[in-house]
Amino acid sequence: MENNNIYPIFSKMQSREDKEKLLGQHGLTLWFTGLSGSGKSTVAIALEKALSEKGIFCRIIDGDNVRCGLNAGLGFSPEDRKENIRRVAEVCRLFTQTGIVTLATFISPVRGLREKAREIIGADDFMEIYVSTPLEECETRDVKGLYAKARRGEIKEFTGVSAPFEPPLAPDVDIDTSRLGVEECVERILDAALPRIKP
Ligand code: ADX
Repeated sequence: MENNNIYPIFSKMQSREDKEKLLGQHGLTLWFTGLSGSGKSTVAIALEKALSEKGIFCRIIDGDNVRCGLNAGLGFSPEDRKENIRRVAEVCRLFTQTGIVTLATFISPVRGLREKAREIIGADDFMEIYVSTPLEECETRDVKGLYAKARRGEIKEFTGVSAPFEPPLAPDVDIDTSRLGVEECVERILDAALPRIKP
């Protein structure tokens, strides 16, 4: 679609710096990637609490939630995952440029998708958190019962079973929730992220 007859008003709006001054923090997206059931949402929820207790304003944007609203209607084909990630990365960009610490929890299974998200959000505003809990552990937990369904062939293109997951090559933080408790995971993320949020 062409952008004819569109007149963005950015120059008249308050700047990112204005928003960050108001909030007393820098905007940043913490992009969680990992298998379904790896612990992305659980760690993000604990991190949200820890950040809030430090007076840092943040927001979780979660795959299952977004797929009930903004991205209702998108499935799990490679094309739909690409569109899912493109849209949520645009949302993360808006939040981050408002000075908000944005916790994005999406499987985002292939490197190209995560690179696209990094590009949209901006490399300076993007930290990659790999929740590296092994497939066997995610499948043993099977909190949502989806792995069992996928193994029975009732869900097609299920990540880790019948669709690929490419581990990040150089994540900023790597946490395996089968080895670390949630509080330890939160500590590691805070150590990496706080200097960028409140330099
Ligand atoms: S992504 O691949 O496009 O990044 P997203 O994080 O939004 O995925 O959604 C993943 C969630 O959708 C999973 O945690 C699971 O609850 C649900 N889901 C349903 N079908 C699938 C599938 N085929 N593959 C992976 N997750 C699925």
